[in-house]
Formats: sequence, structure tokens, C-alpha cells
Amino acid sequence: MSKKLYVVGVGPGTEKYLTNYSIDIIRKSHYIIGYKYTLNTIEHILDRSFNNIFEITMKTQEQVYLNVFNDLMKDGDICTVPFTGDVNFSESEVVDRLLDLFGDENVEIVPGVSSIQVASAKSRVPLDKAAIISFHVTGDIEDKKISLVKSVVDNKSVILVPRPWPSDKLKNFMPSEISSFLKEKGVDTTKIDVWVFENLANNKKENTYKGKLNSLEGKTFSDLSVMVIDQNKRQTYLEF
Ligand SMILES: C[S@@+](CC[C@H](N)C(=O)[O-])C[C@H]1O[C@@H](n2cnc3c(N)ncnc32)[C@H](O)[C@@H]1O
Repeated sequence: MSKKLYVVGVGPGTEKYLTNYSIDIIRKSHYIIGYKYTLNTIEHILDRSFNNIFEITMKTQEQVYLNVFNDLMKDGDICTVPFTGDVNFSESEVVDRLLDLFGDENVEIVPGVSSIQVASAKSRVPLDKAAIISFHVTGDIEDKKISLVKSVVDNKSVILVPRPWPSDKLKNFMPSEISSFLKEKGVDTTKIDVWVFENLANNKKENTYKGKLNSLEGKTFSDLSVMVIDQNKRQTYLEF
């Protein structure tokens, strides 16, 4: 018996994209460690008389993971770390740390529905016909910016999560900066369609913006946004 960790995607925004498999895992978990936004999504299935719940921030997470793994868990105990959307998209900085701590053989990664998938569905831009980019990383994004330009110049659609950086605006790479950046690189931003989806799947706050890429300059969007640069050309089987 070992200490078991489930890394679980719990759907963006609300519980409606939560899978039954994730619900079963959460219900049987002795320990649940998550960010406030993610814990809110699963609040309705938490049982505080059974689940020991730890709310973390970026600053406290390492200490809490170590405390739960080293001091609190016994062999056979189950811990779950829920992530927003799909664990396999734009979460690797934390997931890789958890794999190191618990050991690969003791971790099951459970996929969820990503905000990227919801944006794909709403914009009708299929994932397989788009470049998917996360700028929501701590490290350097210069290579990702080059891929972005290349995809746009190659007439591909792009579905991306921008980079909010509240404590240092120079590190922001939000829709406004993305639009200006592409213009600087010679892209005619007046011609390209764009969507920005804010607070997806949140009935009270969800908002969809649609316009040309240049119209994003100077506009502010929520940190919880997905942007779709839409150059999609529909093509059915009747054409082949
Ligand atoms: C660290 S990434 C995590 C992505 C997540 N794993 C997923 O699959 O959706 C965080 C970013 O995802 C996007 N995001 C997450 N939930 C969202 C939502 N409900 N609506 C819009 N964007 C969302 C935002 O761009 C947010 O800053």
C-alpha cells in the first residue's frame, strides 16, 4: 500500500463539466488540496466530515503538499488535487512537481474538460485545425510568441490562454498586448476575426466578445479569458 494521488480536472467555471469519474474520486479522498476557484467548483460534493480540505495559494502550495504527503497521509490514504478544466493543459508546472513528490506509479491523472475545449465548441473552431497555445506560464514566452506569429501568418486559427500578471504589467500578455504584438510583426489585424470568452461556463459572469483583432487594442478582459483567432475555413466531407 502506498500514498495515492489523483490529479483531477474539474471542468472550468461550474460543475456542469465535472465527470462522474472525478466525482467518485473526490468523494473517496481523505485529503483534497486546491485553489479557491477550483474548490468552489466542487463545493457541492465536498463532505467536510470526511474530506480534509486544504485551500492553497501559489505561495503556500509547496508547504501544504509536503505537510500532507510527509506528515498527514498514511499508507492507503487517497489525496486529490483538483485543477480547473483539463489537468493536461497548462498545469504542468504543478503537476510535474506532484509527480516528483508522490512518484509516478502512485499518481493517476484524470482528464477533464478544458476551457480551450469550451472555447473551441463556442467558436466552432475545431481543436485539430487550430494551434493551441498557453501563455499562462511563469517562464519565458518568447518562443511561444514566435509560434503564434507563424500560425497566424500561415492562416491557421489559434486558441490560446493569455498571460495575466497582476503584479507586473510588463509581463502581461493579454488580448490587447497580443493584438498590438501581431500588428508590430506585420499582421493585418483589421482583417482577422477574433473571439474572447470570459468566465466560461459561469452563468452569472460569462461574456463573449467577437470582433476584428485590431479592436482588442486598449480593451481589458478578465484574467479568466480564452482567446480564439479565427481563420477557420469550414470543409465538409462533401468536398472530397
Ligand atoms: C493555468 S491555466 C489552466 C487552464 C486549465 N487547465 C484548462 O484546461 O482550462 C489558467 C487559465 O485558463 C483559462 N481559464 C480557466 N478557466 C476559465 C474559464 N472558466 N473561462 C475562461 N478562461 C478560463 C484562463 O485563461 C486562465 O487564466
